[in-house]
Amino acid sequence: MKILGKFPSTRLRRVRNSDWIRRLVSENNLSPNDLILPIFIREGKNKIEKIKSMPGVYRYSIDMLSKILDKAEKFNLPMVAIFPNTPSDKRDNNGSEALNENNLICRGVKFIKKKYKNFGVMTDVALDPYTSHGHDGVIINGKIDNDETLKILNKQALLQAAMGSDVIAPSDMMDGRIGSIRKTLDKNKFKDTKILSYAVKYASNFYGPFRDAVGSKSNLKGDKKTYQMDMRNYNEALREVSLDIKEGADFVMVKPGMPYLDIISLIKKTFKIPVFSYQVSGEYSMIKNSVKNKYLNENAIYESLISLKRAGSNAIITYFALDVVAKLDSY
Ligand code: PBG
Repeated sequence: MKILGKFPSTRLRRVRNSDWIRRLVSENNLSPNDLILPIFIREGKNKIEKIKSMPGVYRYSIDMLSKILDKAEKFNLPMVAIFPNTPSDKRDNNGSEALNENNLICRGVKFIKKKYKNFGVMTDVALDPYTSHGHDGVIINGKIDNDETLKILNKQALLQAAMGSDVIAPSDMMDGRIGSIRKTLDKNKFKDTKILSYAVKYASNFYGPFRDAVGSKSNLKGDKKTYQMDMRNYNEALREVSLDIKEGADFVMVKPGMPYLDIISLIKKTFKIPVFSYQVSGEYSMIKNSVKNKYLNENAIYESLISLKRAGSNAIITYFALDVVAKLDSY
């Protein structure tokens, strides 16, 4: 593109010199419609428990969920995403608790769908909150077995859909899972249940606090590099997304967010489909702690989210959703 204009007849500061003109020419904006709120659920009654590595984020027992859901409703957020902290005595090699129709997620979805009509609920399909080894799939002969895991994921997705989940979000990174889950849902009359594929999910160091939150951190041996993407790769993201679109994904996610802005932009420009990004737990904790210690000004939170929008995200999963939405008018 040829850059037009020349100083002094062109002065770009003219369109920056007051708040009203900056608002008028702004190319990207953040609204409640852009934000998805993740929520951690735990067993018990009357519990709102701090998560050490995520200041300001809590695990809620189901009877206390309204404390946070009422706020999501008040600010008109379009969707919440729920994640379970499964008690360790319910974790095993196959993650069988994922298929228990009375597990935390099933009870959580039912509770939310009954009480709240104005936002959608998204549920994670993957086995890591349920396995004794903390991996997203089953281990057979020392390896994460792709096709055996698919059989379980199909059942997990179907169960979540039956409980009322609006958006099934496979985050496990097994090959072929989108097609396999779409077929299963369609066969069982869940044609309207949407699939958000975590199509581009990197084997990242930024998931640490989340693993703490769902209680899989101390269980996890090794890393997730045999199924999550290699951080050195760019073109491979195109292959992941094109396969998932063919298999029936309604929208795709790039994860983590800020370290992968180039990937969000690539996917958005190439495929012209809704692209979501996940500002993950490590990104949250870095920024949150810096703001708490006054190393960073609080507006760094807004800046981090606008960067994700500018790169091409349609919506962002962020632990800052409630903090930010309450202050949108002041940015
Ligand atoms: C589980 C899952 C993870 C996250 C979302 N779903 C962790 C992982 O893959 O180890 C990470 C989210 C975050 O860090 O905020 N499959």
